[in-house]
Amino acid sequence: MKVLLTGGKGMLGRTLVRELGGDFEVVSTDLPEADITDEDAIDAVFARHAPDVVIHCAAMTAVDRCETERDMAFRLNARGTANVAAACARQGVRLIAISTDYVFEGDADRPYAEFDRPTGGRTVYGQSKFAGEEAVRSLCPNHVIARISWLYGAGGPSFVHAMMNLADGSRPVLKVVADQHGNPTSTVAVAQALRGILRRPNLCGTFHLTCESETTWAGFAKEIFRLAGRTQAVQPCTTDEFPRPAPRPKNSRLEKMALRLAGLPPMPHWKDALAAFMAAEFPL
Ligand SMILES: NC(=O)c1ccc[n+]([C@@H]2O[C@H](COP(=O)([O-])OP(=O)(O)OC[C@H]3O[C@@H](n4cnc5c(N)ncnc54)[C@H](OP(=O)(O)O)[C@@H]3O)[C@@H](O)[C@H]2O)c1
Repeated sequence: MKVLLTGGKGMLGRTLVRELGGDFEVVSTDLPEADITDEDAIDAVFARHAPDVVIHCAAMTAVDRCETERDMAFRLNARGTANVAAACARQGVRLIAISTDYVFEGDADRPYAEFDRPTGGRTVYGQSKFAGEEAVRSLCPNHVIARISWLYGAGGPSFVHAMMNLADGSRPVLKVVADQHGNPTSTVAVAQALRGILRRPNLCGTFHLTCESETTWAGFAKEIFRLAGRTQAVQPCTTDEFPRPAPRPKNSRLEKMALRLAGLPPMPHWKDALAAFMAAEFPL
């Protein structure tokens, strides 16, 4: 089976090349040759490589920059995704499109399941990704939408890399937000789940692929420092103490109902996935 990646040089794409390469023929594409905003270029790339499946990772992921560069966010995340979806439909290719928890409002008092109705949320990033999801649903019937969140992977950039840089011994105490809740998720865990989905060619619809169990950014930071053997103190603080251009969701937790209903293996616990990552990326 030939699997083509868009955005293959990004954090998730690089892991997918490594993790899926042993089981599938993986073709990684990215800028400049496979610009998703250029519908003719995308058609040409798909025609040249003749993939069976496309995993669409390319996106504008800088959440704050999306607020000030609204057109660019929609050009990539909405129009670009529509181009990929239309090309897949034209060429009879299965599409797995990567999306995000930001498509939800983030104010529910329970984890969001795949059957909850997203609105696009409160950020330009979330709204543009939601528009991309809608394009996938309407243009390419043979699709999976895979929502992920709180992602980290080899090379970063990610919260894990940011925390490791900040814990350089110069700060006696590090303030970290403790009123946002989510599922820290490694790119390796996402790759393993995608492998299961790739092996089930008739599966379609929306799947949440975040690690099991939940924490806050402060809890995540404490676990990173514990695994790294750092003595960095963490002081929990509120979101209001760190105003950002794009409002962050209080609740990013995603329930993995679709994986369960499909009989696919559960995602790993976030602490186990983080331990494996830290051992490889920041060995003691
Ligand atoms: N990172 C997270 O925490 C997170 C959380 C939830 C969901 N996601 C989703 O997961 C997916 C992968 O995220 P990631 O963290 O791997 O993102 P990333 O590291 O920013 O990678 C995105 C890749 O897409 C490329 N790209 C940008 N514009 C493009 C265009 N016009 N045509 C083709 N490629 C283009 C980027 O190239 P340049 O670097 O040259 O711009 C980059 O190589 C995205 O769909 C994202 O929305 C990520």
